[in-house]
Amino acid sequence: MITTDINTVKNTLENNEIVAIPTETVYGLAGNAYNESAIKKIFELKKRPFYNPLIVHIKSTEFIHQVACDIPEMAIRLANQFWPGSLTLIVKKQAHIPDLITAGKDTVAVRVPNHPLTLALLEKLDFPLAAPSANPFGSISPTSANHVANYFEDNLEFILDGGECTNGVESTIIGFENNQAVLYRHGSIAIEEIEKITGKISVKSNNNSSPEAPGMLSRHYAPKTTTYLTQNIDELITSFENKKIGLLLFQNKIKNETIIHQEILSDSGNLKEAAKNLYAAMHRLDKKNLDVIIAEKMPDNGLGKTINDRLQRAIKK
Ligand code: TXA
Ligand code: MG
Repeated sequence: MITTDINTVKNTLENNEIVAIPTETVYGLAGNAYNESAIKKIFELKKRPFYNPLIVHIKSTEFIHQVACDIPEMAIRLANQFWPGSLTLIVKKQAHIPDLITAGKDTVAVRVPNHPLTLALLEKLDFPLAAPSANPFGSISPTSANHVANYFEDNLEFILDGGECTNGVESTIIGFENNQAVLYRHGSIAIEEIEKITGKISVKSNNNSSPEAPGMLSRHYAPKTTTYLTQNIDELITSFENKKIGLLLFQNKIKNETIIHQEILSDSGNLKEAAKNLYAAMHRLDKKNLDVIIAEKMPDNGLGKTINDRLQRAIKK
C-alpha cells in the first residue's frame, strides 16, 4: 500500500518487516540495520546476491560513530560538506554491524539521506535503516512510489510516498585506500564537486570478476527491452529498419516518422535535470513494447559521467 503515514511505517519497521522509503536519489527497500531477519528479507525480495553489501542510512552525521570506527579525517570533511545528501562513505564497520549487511567485509557503507519524510522517520527510530535501491536486482531503479509498486506491490506492506526523487540517480560512493579517497561509484554528486574537497581522485574500475567493486556489475540498471548506446543516433537507427524503435535523448528530438517514442531528458541541456528524469524515462520506454531502445551518449562531464555510467550498464552486451 502506498502511504504518507510515517507512524505506521515506523511500526512495521519495528516489527522487523521491510518497507520502501523515498530518498532524494532513488527509493530504497528498507529494514532495521541491526536485525538479521529484516536484512534477509531485503535480499530475498530484491533477489540480490549476498555478496553485494547494503548501504546503512543514518539520521545525522554524528551517528556515523555508532556504525563505524577509525574514520579517516577526509571522510568527516566530506560528510560535513555533503550530508544530508547523496554521498555514501565506505568506512571501517563497528563490530555490531551484521555481516549480512557488509557481505562479510570489515567496511560499511553509510549515508544521511536528504529527504524530509525519511529523515523524520529515522528520527523516530532507534536503529538505522539498511536500504538498497527498491528494484529487483539488475533492473531499473525506482524514482517514484509507483515505480516501486510496479515491482513489489504484492510483497510490500507499505511504500512511503515522498514524491518524485529530486536527484534521480544513486548516491556517489567514496571509499578510502591507504588513506586516499577513491571513487567507487559515479552518482548524483558530480566527481568535480567531490574533488573540490579531496583533490584529484582515482576511480576504481569495476568488473564482474571483482564483486568487491561495489555492485557495479557490467549489466545493471537494465530495461527489459534491448538497449543500445551511441554518439550517433541517426546512423544507428538505419541498422534497425522495420523495427519498433524508442529513443532516449539528451536535448533534441530527431525528425524521423518511423520512431515510435522519443524521451528527452532535458530541453535546456541541463545535466542535473537529465539525471532526475533518466530512470522515469527508461521505465516509460520499457513499457512501450519496443524492439529496441537507442540511448544517446551524454556530454562526458559533471553528471553526464554518471548518466553515461548507468547507460553503459543498461546496454546489450
Ligand atoms: O542513492 C543510493 O545510494 C540508494 C539510496 C536508496 O540510498 N541506494 C543504493 O543502494 O543505491 P544499492 O544497494 O543499490 O547500491 C549500494 C552500493 C552497491 O553497489 C554495493 O556494492 C556498495 O554500495 N557497497 C555497500 N557496502 C559496501 C562496502 N562495504 N564496500 C564497498 N561497496 C559497498
Ligand atoms: Mg541498486
